[in-house]
Amino acid sequence: MTDELLNHPGALTGDVRPTASYTLRVNGVERPVSDAWIGESLLYVLRERLGLAGAKDGCEQGECGACSVQVDGQLVNGCLVPAALAADSEINTVEGLSGSGGASDVQQALADSGAVQCGYCTPGLAMAVHDLLQRNHRPSEIEARQALCGNLCRCTGYRGALAAVQTVAEAREAALEAELDAAEQAAATVEPVVPAQATEQSFADLALAGELPLYADSELWHEADQLIPPQAQAQAQAQPPRPVEPAWSGTPAHGTAVPVGWEPTPAHGTAADAAVYGTPAHGTPYLPTPPHGTPHQDPGVYEGTPPHGTPQQDPGVYEGTPPHGTPQQDAGGYDGTVYATDGYGHQYTGYDATPAHGIRLPEDENA
Ligand code: FES
Ligand code: FES
Repeated sequence: MTDELLNHPGALTGDVRPTASYTLRVNGVERPVSDAWIGESLLYVLRERLGLAGAKDGCEQGECGACSVQVDGQLVNGCLVPAALAADSEINTVEGLSGSGGASDVQQALADSGAVQCGYCTPGLAMAVHDLLQRNHRPSEIEARQALCGNLCRCTGYRGALAAVQTVAEAREAALEAELDAAEQAAATVEPVVPAQATEQSFADLALAGELPLYADSELWHEADQLIPPQAQAQAQAQPPRPVEPAWSGTPAHGTAVPVGWEPTPAHGTAADAAVYGTPAHGTPYLPTPPHGTPHQDPGVYEGTPPHGTPQQDPGVYEGTPPHGTPQQDAGGYDGTVYATDGYGHQYTGYDATPAHGIRLPEDENA
């Protein structure tokens, strides 16, 4: 006999069978098992070591189903499963069917349907019905018979158990439908809340994307106009009036300083000033391009291209191409002085006309 066997707890009594200590997790509770022979069945350990006598010992050879329990969600005969092998598994017994201590709906239905006489098979049957309805919420009678065929009842028969299966299935289905109806009604009574900010932002997005009509006579435009945030309208109205540039009066005389009138495109929503260049604000009535030569509404402005040589209304300005040799009004001649620069970077300088043919220029004296 080796030292290992001599040190075994059962050595003095002559019991040298191998033992093991492990923990079973039964109905969600950790249950330690110490020095148990590794051949002990789950049914034996549950009943004799852990005091859980719900599972019954009928045949101890997997024939009657009285010892039915679930191991990791699978219905098994506890008498055929070595307990040590279930150490890392989740075990559910008939004691765990009802969390509140009362009878579960399955147990109550078995009692109500008269499926219990001596009751010895009942814990196993309850586990079998519970397992069936977990996998199949609406089993047919054939499916129910197949599920219960491993549980033997010698005094009551199976009519009550099959009735209990249908009763529980129908009750659970009705409860689920009622729950769904209640959730549907609750959802229907809650009105969706659309923040005003979201509507205004949607309008702004559409406007920026160019998807809103810009015609003054469009009904859609008027509808969209209502959606302009009041804050944006107030800002647009509060902006100071734009300076009115002098009306265009033809090409100024050479050497005349040109006012730089370039204006950037106004922001969207800015009230349009008819005399200022730039994209008009949304909602500004669209005016088509007038036919060529049509006088502009603004008097004194451009009135069509005049015939060649026609003096401009503005006296002192360009009056047609002078004859060769005619000195320009602007005495002093070209001196390279920059008189003005427009918004595009073009520079304007004084010009003194081409001198008459044959006139010697000052620089020619040095030639
Ligand atoms: Fe397990 Fe009978 S005691 S099947
Ligand atoms: Fe007695 Fe089933 S009720 S064996």
